[in-house]
Amino acid sequence: MRAMDEFAGKVALVTGASGIGAAAALRLARAGAGVLCCDIDAAAGGALAQAAAGLRLVTRQVDVTAEAEVQAAVAAAAQAFGGLDIIVNAAAIHPFGTVEHTDAATFARCMAVNVGGIALTARHGIPLLRARGGGAIVNLASVQGHACQQGVAAYAASKGAVHALTRAMALDHARDNIRVNSVSPGSVRTPMLALSARTFDGAGADLEAVFRRFGAAHPLGRIGEPEEVAELIAFLAGPRSAFVTGADYLIDGGLNAGIGVR
Ligand SMILES: NC(=O)c1ccc[n+]([C@@H]2O[C@H](COP(=O)([O-])OP(=O)(O)OC[C@H]3O[C@@H](n4cnc5c(N)ncnc54)[C@H](O)[C@@H]3O)[C@@H](O)[C@H]2O)c1
Repeated sequence: MRAMDEFAGKVALVTGASGIGAAAALRLARAGAGVLCCDIDAAAGGALAQAAAGLRLVTRQVDVTAEAEVQAAVAAAAQAFGGLDIIVNAAAIHPFGTVEHTDAATFARCMAVNVGGIALTARHGIPLLRARGGGAIVNLASVQGHACQQGVAAYAASKGAVHALTRAMALDHARDNIRVNSVSPGSVRTPMLALSARTFDGAGADLEAVFRRFGAAHPLGRIGEPEEVAELIAFLAGPRSAFVTGADYLIDGGLNAGIGVR
């Protein structure tokens, strides 16, 4: 099968229109999928729509914690492209702080976006996937769901929950031929990583210098690119991974292979 038409006739809903979500949406659309990409940030959607000129990719402003908006987005994807086969959940927020310094509203919002958003796209998308005889869901987790740095309590909790939710969804929907897997990146060059850099090094931080330092912590000696993660997402979304479900794939330049002692 040529990579150009691996996803011909397939329809994907992607949440997150910047960074990894944008790269995944473009990767699937370039391989023939019709894609509806959602983001709460209209500017992120607008930039992706521009980058996607000529592709079957539309963007839509959606808050993944608002059930009616998610339901409408799922329906719009099916209406625009004739059904739904793939869901990629890449919308997320990354609050910083110890549990002592994370207020209840911040903690709840983090869980609502990073975990609840996945449940909502699945709740409304699964009936459409089932109607097509199966499909694939790819959830963005993180290395921080396996082992974490300091000061990311809510985010790490949410990513551990993404691993658990992925397994639960995989078991519940295996009989529908719906495969559910997660991807756990290390540091990847996106606006979220830039936020991390500014949080740890200050607003005026030299981003490339901080990214080099983050990269040096990864055995491969660099941070990842969104397109590299999109490649793994495409593998998990398509027929090449037909016997893979309930799994988490690290894509972290070897970060989690080490114990941090030199
Ligand atoms: N970049 C990294 O280093 C890295 C590492 C590990 C995991 N991840 C995960 O990868 C995924 C993609 O992250 P990214 O780096 O591309 O981040 P990003 O910040 O570039 O993209 C996330 C997008 O989600 C959107 N979003 C936030 N809240 C939303 C809501 N309520 N409804 C709809 N959209 C909302 C944001 O507006 C943003 O455009 C996330 O799950 C993130 O946790 C990223």
